[in-house]
Amino acid sequence: MDCPRDWPEPIVRVQSLSDTCTDTIPKRYIKPPEARPSLGSTTIEANIPLIDLGGIHDDNLRETLLKDVSEACREWGFFQVVNHGVSPELMDRAREVWREFFHQPMEVKQAYANLPKTYEGYGSRLGVEKGAILDWSDYYYLHYLPCNLRDFNKWPALPNKLREVITEYSAEVVRLGGILLKLFSINLGLKEEFLQNAFGGDDIGACLRVNFYPKCPQPDMTLGLSPHSDPGGMTFLLPDQHVPGLQVRRGDGWITVKPAPHAFIVNIGDQLQVMSNAIYKSVEHRVIVSAQERVSLAYFYNPKSDLLIQPVTELVTPDRPALYPAMTFDEYRLYIRTKGPLGKSQLGKC
Ligand code: OGA
Ligand code: NI
Repeated sequence: MDCPRDWPEPIVRVQSLSDTCTDTIPKRYIKPPEARPSLGSTTIEANIPLIDLGGIHDDNLRETLLKDVSEACREWGFFQVVNHGVSPELMDRAREVWREFFHQPMEVKQAYANLPKTYEGYGSRLGVEKGAILDWSDYYYLHYLPCNLRDFNKWPALPNKLREVITEYSAEVVRLGGILLKLFSINLGLKEEFLQNAFGGDDIGACLRVNFYPKCPQPDMTLGLSPHSDPGGMTFLLPDQHVPGLQVRRGDGWITVKPAPHAFIVNIGDQLQVMSNAIYKSVEHRVIVSAQERVSLAYFYNPKSDLLIQPVTELVTPDRPALYPAMTFDEYRLYIRTKGPLGKSQLGKC
């Protein structure tokens, strides 16, 4: 499963297409009818659970908080958190500095054009299958942790404030990740530090994918991001404050997430599904586009990439045998990156 050194065909920036194709989108972005957002899929009028983390230090509220988090991880795989301790101003600055990045001239962005080997930098496709139908989005991908992968030269130099703001933002998201792993450990009947240690302690991975969904003249024909589950541990999504787009699978239908002001959308990734032996669910999601551009920051909080990830012994019982084989996150990711987004085929739809 070697990864090709370059893309199978020339990269076209969706943002450039959006600027030039004002009526119709190129064929490459048109999904088969059953995969389009409107046809062949029911939308469900509901929202994912909203959890107020403010109760964490309040003895009267803590029990309810733990119960709500437990239910959200088991039944939904997705929830929003408010009162999470990350400054709303910092969240806004982080999003706006990336919006500014994408609105710079193309030459500035092309200096960071990415390759399939690491995906770091400015990209416009996932997967290397020649002739694939593509998603209506560009993105920027960078590493924050482990420290040896943090290379500021691969982070945009412009806008001026970007590196500083994103460093501060990253530290805050990682802190929040540690807090949630504690809650998950307690809820699974494990020692508070269990999952953090199983993720590699301070050697976790933390990487950011900033998604830029340009405005689209035919939003019913395409998707901003095809259905997928997130391969890592868990994800902290900072959505656009004005434009919805994220849809979460619920049974046979899709829920369009309505973000609360300055909430993070948290979702369980495949590695936590494996470690919890499927007590927690990594749920499929996708992004629809519209006549307005949308910016989102997806922060992936991952286990150290060369640790073997397998169902936690305490969660394997005669009634519930281990559902997954042991595999490092490196092995798992290589498998996925070669194939591109594939819904939930990797772990089965449990
Ligand atoms: C992702 C993702 C959702 C969004 O980047 O993995 O699911 O709303 N993003 O952009
Ligand atoms: Ni995702």
